[in-house]
Amino acid sequence: MTLKVLGVGSSMRKGSYSTETLRIALEKASQNGSETKLLSLYDNPLPFYHERSRGNNSNIDLATEMVKGSDAFILATPDYHGSMSGSLKNFLDHFWSDFAGKTFGYICASHEKGLTVMDHMRTAIRQCYGWSLPYGISINSTQDFNSNREITNSRLLMRLNSFSRDLVIYGSLIHEQFKKDLNSNINNSFAAHYRK
Ligand SMILES: Cc1cc2nc3c(=O)[nH]c(=O)nc-3n(C[C@H](O)[C@H](O)[C@H](O)COP(=O)(O)O)c2cc1C
Repeated sequence: MTLKVLGVGSSMRKGSYSTETLRIALEKASQNGSETKLLSLYDNPLPFYHERSRGNNSNIDLATEMVKGSDAFILATPDYHGSMSGSLKNFLDHFWSDFAGKTFGYICASHEKGLTVMDHMRTAIRQCYGWSLPYGISINSTQDFNSNREITNSRLLMRLNSFSRDLVIYGSLIHEQFKKDLNSNINNSFAAHYRK
């Protein structure tokens, strides 16, 4: 099975470093055997979640198609006051019910390492029954990139290599097991709650 990975970029800046890093991570995930797509919430903004906002908006339709076709995710966000961007939280509000049995990796652009940002993303995904990689990617635009927007921090590049590799390997294992549990008669698995 080829793992389908969706990267979600949520910065509201055109020249975003978190989205740039997401592109690099997706490229590495593809080199590790996955199929990858990028959903930029800057280019494809979603309306503020409302019970009536579903089903009548082409941006939501595109995002829905991309989310439903994905087995694992990389969420990328700037640090906005120690938390994720509002656009990313809004994305989770729209699509939380599609995350069970899927693995998530996190990227944060911050001047303060973004540890609380990572924690907030992990907590929100846990509430949606998604699985999280135990480590994420924190980037600092002024220290880790040169003026050509290339990553110059070799330790960060090594971390990105293992991050993308681990997302594909562990994401595949978790997704395969979830599908097996879903299609079995086993009732003592959390997948049983998702049987139709
Ligand atoms: C509304 C807002 C709040 C921010 N809050 C923080 C913050 O609390 N800590 C921080 O280090 N940077 C903060 N920043 C700066 C961005 O996180 C930082 O510039 C980041 O690198 C931008 O990522 P991007 O290039 O992906 O847009 C804030 C920026 C904005 C617009």
